Order: sequence, then structure tokens, then C-alpha cells
Amino acid sequence: MRRKYICGNWKMNKTSSEARDFAEKINEFDFENVDVLLAPSFVSLESFRKILNKKIEVSAQNLSQFEDGAYTGEVSTSMLKDIGVENVIIGHSERREKFFESNEIVNAKVKKALADDFRVILCLGEALEVKAKNKEVDFVKDELLKSLDGIENIENITIAYEPIWAIGTGKTCSADDAEKMCREIRQIINKNYGEISEKIRILYGGSVKPSNAREILSQENIDGVLVGGASLDVDSFIEIIKAGESL
Ligand code: 13P
Repeated sequence: MRRKYICGNWKMNKTSSEARDFAEKINEFDFENVDVLLAPSFVSLESFRKILNKKIEVSAQNLSQFEDGAYTGEVSTSMLKDIGVENVIIGHSERREKFFESNEIVNAKVKKALADDFRVILCLGEALEVKAKNKEVDFVKDELLKSLDGIENIENITIAYEPIWAIGTGKTCSADDAEKMCREIRQIINKNYGEISEKIRILYGGSVKPSNAREILSQENIDGVLVGGASLDVDSFIEIIKAGESL
């Protein structure tokens, strides 16, 4: 069985001191049987990783597809590795929509991350207009295959299905619908990559909270959650970890 993966994406929230307070609290909580990852802002990564319980993985929320040089404002894989960070979230819908990251850019970032031995959480998900036309499976398939174009080895990739209409809105996709899409994603991976589809973890993200985490996490093809808002509060994030552990 795939181990459940409980991931928190803090987006542009929490200063380094707030991140430290969170780390001190979560360090007191012990867990087993699940993997846990947190993605604070770039500026908190180093100090957060140093004080955080080593059981918890720390991830960047983005990285540059370029090696180094004249790219003002960007952060490279080597800068991240130098501070001990080797996980990254790529292709979040907020980056795609608000910072114009196309599938081609996402693909270049995934390639760069994998080439430098990062583990990647690749985000996919449709907007409400797409869902309204019942085109969500086609859309997600296209996003998945274009984001992975030319990539042969996907063992260090985790997929996160995050329907845009469920992010930060309080509207969760039903556990059934989330399971259906995650199953579709697994089948697409199986067709294109074979047996590894049984090992790849597929997460659901979008208004996950303590009250719905257990139902979502108990679905066969949902191997974890990528949590935004509810990961900012240490108690609610711990409740979500406990939901994963209880399965
Ligand atoms: P919310 O949990 O706040 O809906 O955010 C989900 C998300 O975008 C995680 O990456």
C-alpha cells in the first residue's frame, strides 16, 4: 500500500518567526505511518528546516528552470540544495494563472528539478468553466502529459489534483469525484508509463480540513492531501495528519 502523504502549502503566508512558532509546536507532536511535508516561503526555508523535526520534509513552492545568471528574483535548484531543500511544488494553479506559467514552463521546471534530484509535487486541476462543460478529464490529461513531456522517469514525482474551483473557496470536490479523477490520472500514467502508476502517489487538494480529511484520504486512489488554509494552523494540520494515521 502507498503511504499516505500529508502536505501543507503555506503559499505567501507566515513570516520566518511565525514559521518558527509553528515548528516548535509541531515538533511536540509525534506521528507514524504517514509522510508529512510542509512548504513555507523561500525566506523561511532554511531556518524552518533547521528547527523542524527531521521526520517532516520541507519543500519549496517553486523554483527556476534556469541554472543561474541574469534572472532577477528567481531561485535556483543549487541555492535550494545548498540549504538542504530537495522537494518542490511545481505548476500550482496560482502560478499558472497569476504568474502565467504555461505547461511548457512547468515542463521545463519539472525537468530541471528532476535533473537535480529533487522530488516534485506536480499540480494539475481544471477551472470551473472547464468543469461546467464536462471537459475536466480531457483538461487534466492534457495538462499532465504536457507537463511531463519528454520525461521518462517519473518515480520522483507526486501528482496533486487540485480543482481550481475548490481552492480556498470552502467548496470541496466530493470524495467520490476526487477519487474518480485520481483514478483517471492513475490510468493515464499507467498507459504512458506502465506499472510505476501503482507506486506514484496522487494527492487531492482544495479546501481540505480536519472535518473532511478522513473521507478524502480513505479513497483508494487518493494517497494524500495538499492543504492550503488548514495547514496554517498547527492544530488543524495535526488533525489532518491524525486522519491520515487513522487509516
Ligand atoms: P486550500 O486548502 O486553502 O483550498 O488550498 C489548496 C491548495 O491550493 C494547496 O496547494
